[in-house]
Parts: sequence; structure tokens; C-alpha cells
Amino acid sequence: MKNLPTPPAPNEFIDPDDLDNNPTSNTSLHEVIASRMHRRHLLRGGVGALTAATLGPLALSACGGGSDGFPVFPPAPAPAPAPASPAPAPAPAPAAEPKLGFSAVGKDLADRITVPPGYTATVIYATGDSIDPAITDYKNDGSDDTFGRRSGDQHDGMHYFGLTPDSKPSLSSTERALMCINHEAINGTVMFMHPNGQTNISSSAGPRPEAEALKEVEAHGASVVEIAKAGGKFTVVKNSTFNRRVTPRTPMEFGGPARGSALLKTVYSPAGTGTRGMIGNCASGYTPWGTYLTCEENFAGFFRRGSADDAKRSAKELVAFKRIGLAQGAAGGQRWATVVPADNADTEYARWDTSNIGASADGTDDFRNTANTFGWVVEIDPYNPASTPVKHTALGRFAHEGAWPSNPVVGKPLAFYMGDDSRSEYVYKYVSKAVWSAADANPADRLATGSKYLDDGTLYAAKFNADGSGTWLKLDLSNTAISGNSAYAFADLADVLVNARLAADAAGATKCDRPEWTAVNPKNGEIYITMTENPDRGSVGTTSSNNVPNPDVDPAFPRYWLDNKGISTQNAAASVSKGDVNGQVMRIRETGNDASAPTFNWDIFLFGSQARADAGLDDVNYQQNVNLSGLSDFNDFSKPDGCWFSRASGILWIETDDNAYTDVTNCMLLAAIPGEYGDGGKIDVVNQANGKPGAAGTGPVTVSTFAGKKMNDTIFKRFLTAPLGAEVTGLAESPDGKALFINIQHPGENTAAANIATPAKYESHWPGNGAGVTPYGAGGSTARPRSATVMITKDDGGIIGL
Ligand code: FEO
Ligand code: CA
Ligand code: CA
Repeated sequence: MKNLPTPPAPNEFIDPDDLDNNPTSNTSLHEVIASRMHRRHLLRGGVGALTAATLGPLALSACGGGSDGFPVFPPAPAPAPAPASPAPAPAPAPAAEPKLGFSAVGKDLADRITVPPGYTATVIYATGDSIDPAITDYKNDGSDDTFGRRSGDQHDGMHYFGLTPDSKPSLSSTERALMCINHEAINGTVMFMHPNGQTNISSSAGPRPEAEALKEVEAHGASVVEIAKAGGKFTVVKNSTFNRRVTPRTPMEFGGPARGSALLKTVYSPAGTGTRGMIGNCASGYTPWGTYLTCEENFAGFFRRGSADDAKRSAKELVAFKRIGLAQGAAGGQRWATVVPADNADTEYARWDTSNIGASADGTDDFRNTANTFGWVVEIDPYNPASTPVKHTALGRFAHEGAWPSNPVVGKPLAFYMGDDSRSEYVYKYVSKAVWSAADANPADRLATGSKYLDDGTLYAAKFNADGSGTWLKLDLSNTAISGNSAYAFADLADVLVNARLAADAAGATKCDRPEWTAVNPKNGEIYITMTENPDRGSVGTTSSNNVPNPDVDPAFPRYWLDNKGISTQNAAASVSKGDVNGQVMRIRETGNDASAPTFNWDIFLFGSQARADAGLDDVNYQQNVNLSGLSDFNDFSKPDGCWFSRASGILWIETDDNAYTDVTNCMLLAAIPGEYGDGGKIDVVNQANGKPGAAGTGPVTVSTFAGKKMNDTIFKRFLTAPLGAEVTGLAESPDGKALFINIQHPGENTAAANIATPAKYESHWPGNGAGVTPYGAGGSTARPRSATVMITKDDGGIIGL
């Protein structure tokens, strides 16, 4: 996603995800790699028996491939029972590994969607679509308003919540559903919402017009829209009473340990028990009791903070602001705080200013704490349009990408896995205190059930050890590294949760390469985590864009290389990317396959790379160890972001949000056979770029790591390519697997704002141009681009991907 304090010219575009606000020296495992490599084949003995029984021939052949050097861990118990669920039960996970049954699509640079032969892509819900019969169809000329009853912009995470014919929750309904869809941001596309772009967006300009700001605010948040199937295809039910927009204006409650904390008090909620709305809703999640989780990612950039605010803040407050990247003098994303509202008493816009301007000692007369009320996991009950969403503070506050549940096991706690998507940030796990009860699968009060499981539990951050093991570090005051932390003296558990990054710093978590989505394999509970990239990786001895030390290469993030691709705009002139340029997908097996375990083992399932990265054809300098997964033209990719398991097919779908390989191809959706932890082996990665991984100037540096088995064009294939400027995100399916939904986010985002009056200069005209889909909405070949939910169906009515 993109959001910026002040939108610069496109070539200067900095993804807020690219900020590094982590000043710690946590984890450079390179120094400690030496010794503890156990040499025992993962798939022998009890675990081998398990995998053979559950995974079938593919797993057996993987065993034969030899995976030397994996750490010892106790034999896994019997496979977890199938998740409990509202009756009727969902389709069980397939017993055997799936076989990909489509022809890979090629890399593509056109302004269109491509899918394999035999498949059809259909837009069902695009920016500005009306979800109310009283609201006009979207003209897409910048004149439309009332976004509180229209689709927001920049669709992101989503989930399919089935509905029975009599409007009851159902996990098996293939005909009717409520689709929850995040609307993450407007950066790069906001000019298309107004006739001639934004007014007064420059930091030296006057107040933003209220009408423009209102549209922009309401274009964020999430949609709940009913979809129904006819003739094999879903369409939005415009007059459904379930249709709802949840926006940055929607009142919300806090749940969990930080509810009522002094850190959450504002003039809007002097008791610190509520806040208005949500922002930066990136990826998502769901619960086993039928609610939607929507996660606030890049919240910090939306807030103004006065140019003399530091002097009015405590030392602790300054540490906390620095750690989320909210500097004194920040203008605040779209400058919403400058609006002078017609209703003088309305704090709607004032709350985007987090300056300390009141007279109170506790912040109950201003919005000095407003930024603390964002950056949470929000729970929405899609089946109750009147319900008040809840921000669950027990899951911590950071740049939340998403929150995905472990496979529920009756009598065991639930776990939720979460990435903090900024450079060199951490992976988190929340474990509920309550143990799962099948009776909670279809409760009368879903948000009360949410409180039971999400308001009382333990937050952990991940430490990836050099020997392939891992530790979940407890983030509360029982951890002496936190209670005794000198860099920031935590007052209580609420302080730990509001400042979860600082707590994870103190605990010693491992700096990661922008952790994004997590996906739990329904078959065996293993967790996949996309690490999208990190240009700071390996640049030791230098500091990042935020003046903090860069992390070394280490076993969990072993690659450093240079790449001469355009990094700012598609088809830009060559420039050099460095560090972990293309990202990777990690894989975790919890000890004993127990989601609440304090330890785990990890390997790297997949390394992002261009196919020819090691061939010396178009790189700045020759590399031996970039394309470590054996990618080819059928499946090479950069910057994994979305990853998600289809329960119907067992396929692991992977999506990209790339700007490193976009001189060669637009972003994409790929299908992978997941295999299992340990199906590859120990490898040595030699980093010998012109840069300086390891001690300054001493390269090459060799790092040993644990890789998944190599890919080939039968187990990993490109399925879809996106229009120009778009990332591919969001994944959902109908329970029969015959409709797969994805989101196309921010097509045309590299259009210069100055070109709003010149449609020929728009980077994209999709989906109005009908490229790869039936032409959608107004505008035709010169349409303003729109983000959209896309339904993919197979022409023979089969399961997608098989
Ligand atoms: Fe919103 Fe991390 O992508
Ligand atoms: Ca992203
Ligand atoms: Ca994302």
C-alpha cells in the first residue's frame, strides 16, 4: 500500500511500508550461525509416517530428495482434528496434495488482466460502486460523492461469509454471501476521486475543502456487501439490508487490556474506551465464530503533529512516536486536520492532529493520544449491520498487515498470526487464554464470543534462531527483558500492547524483511509468512532512511544482492535495488503442531527472484545465489504479499505487490503446492554483491539456511497478471472452490496528479477499458482507473486451479 504525509511527485514515491523505524540491534544471527546445525533428516521416524499418511505421493518423493541439516524436534502428534464450524461444516481439506491443472500465464506489461485458457475474470465491485438503491451509479468523473454508501478505494484483504436462503450464517453456502472487503488507502489514486484532483494538498496551502476530505475519509475502511450467484456468477445485491460501509467515521469500542488506558484517552472518548473509525485497513482475517478481522497498517502517516510538539511530550512519548515514525512537524497524509468544518463543534477533522494542544494533564481535552487509537486489529460482525466494531488491544498495536487464525482444535487455545509490515519489523502471534469450544462456532452473540477469545490472551514476537528453531517471545511484564527494559519503562500491560514494537525490541525479536500475510495450511497447521523485501538487509554499518542501523544477512534472511531494475515507476530507467530485493516466503511448524507452543521450527519455502537472476544477463553484477528456488519463466516473481490457502483445492495462492521486477512484468497471482516443512534441505548462500554484507567491505559472506524444496513448473505456476500500476491482493473463495475472488488494488497509481485532465496520460484505464474483463462502468478506453474485486471462474464450472 501507499500513503504519505504529503504526496510527492510519482518518481519520489516512497512506500510507507518501506520506512524503517526499528532502531534496535536485534538479531544479526550471522555471528552465531556456526555451530548448532543438527544433522537429522526431518522426515524420518514418526514425522515421516505422519507425512506419508497425510500428504501422499508428492510428499514421499520430497522425502526421497534428501533434506539434510534440519534441526531435531519432537515427533509431531496425530494431525489436528478438522476445525469445528457452524453447521453445516465446510468442505474438508483435501487429503492429498493438489495438482495444478492450468497452463501458466506469461509475464505481461499490458494494461489488462490475463488468466489461463479456460478461465474467465469478471469485475464485481469497483471503487465508487453504489451499495444502496438510493445512491446513483458511479459516473467516475470525479463528481460522485457519498462514499459512505459506495465502495471505498484500494480494495485489499477480504473474506467470504456464507448466507443461507433465510439469511443465517453458513460456512457451506455457495450461492449467497456477505463479502467483507478492506479499502486500504487512496494514495496514488485519490486525484481520480475529484474532478481535477485534490485541492490544497501542498503542505504550504490553505485548508483542505471539507467536501473533498469527506470523500477521501469515507473512501477508507471496509465494505460489507451481499453477493449472490445466478448463472454461475456472483453479482452484488445492491438493495441488501446487510450492505454496510465501515469507515474512519464509524464509532468503535476498545476491548482487551488497553481499554480505558490513559494512553487511549481523547476528547472523543475521555474514558479511553472508544475511538472513531479505522484507517489503513490492509489485510484481514476471520474468526471461527463468523466475524471479520480487518487490520490497521500504515496509520501513522495520517496524523499531523505540530512543529513544537516535542517540547510538550515526555521522554517516553518521544520514544513511542519515534518507534511508529510519527515525527514532530508531520503534515499528516491528506492534511485532513486542516479542514475547517461547517459544524464547528465537530471534531471529525481535528482528530487527525495528534499535537498536545490542550490544558488537561491527561489528554481528555484534545487528541494528543489519537494516534494510539489506531494500529489495531478490528473485529466486525458482518451479519449484524448495526453492531459496533471492536478494536482488540490484546493483539497489540503496530502496522498490522493481517491476523489469521490457527486451525481450531477443541480444548486448545486459538492462535492468530500477524505480520508488522515495515522494514525490519517482526512477526507476532496471539494465543487466547480461552480454549476452543465447538459450541462457539455459531454463537448468538458473535462479538461477545470475540471478546472471550480476543480480549484475554498472550502476545508473542518471533525469534528465528540460527539452527532453524524458533522461539515465541512473550510480550508482557512477566518477561524480565520487558519489565526491566531501560530504553522504555513499561508502566503496565496496556503500555506493552500500545507500544508492542518497543516490547518486541526489548524481548529480542528477529528483524524481518517486511512481514506481510500469514497463511495457515488447513491440512497440517503449518504457517506461511510472506516477507516482501528489505532494501536495508545486509547493508550493515549503514543506516536506513529513518537513520536506524540496518540488519545483517542472517540464516532467516540470507540473501543480499544488487539488481538494476527501476524501483519507483514501471518501466523506469534502470536504477540499482539492493538488499533483499525480491523477498521470500517463510514457513513455520509449531512444536508438536500445537498452535500455542512457545517454540517452532522454520524454513524458507520460497525465494522471490527473477528467473535469470543468477545468469548474469541483466544484473549489475553476477550472483550465484539469488534464484534459490529454481524459478523459471513460468513462475518467477518479486515481492510476495498476499498468501492464502484454498480449503477447496489445497492450493497456496501467492500474490505480489511489486515495484522491483515491474520493468519485466506487472504484478501477479501464483499457485503453489505447499509441500511441508523440511521438504528441502540445508543450503549455503554466498553473497558476493558489490555491496557489503557482513562486516563492511569484507564480502563475500556465506550464510547457511534451511530452504524448502526447489520449485518447478508443475508445482508452482503463474495464474494471473494485473493491469498497470496495480498490486494483486485479497483472496477469498466460495466454499466449493468454483469462484475465486481477488482484488486489483490501485491500477494507474503511477499517474502524475498533474495529468488528471489528460486521460491519455493515465497509466491505466482498467477496468473501464474492458481489458481481460467485460468492460466495467463508465469511461471506456479513456476511463479513470478503479480498484476492483474480481471473480475468477472456470469455464467448465470446475474448481479454480485444479
Ligand atoms: Fe498494505 Fe503491507 O500491504
Ligand atoms: Ca503491500
Ligand atoms: Ca499487503
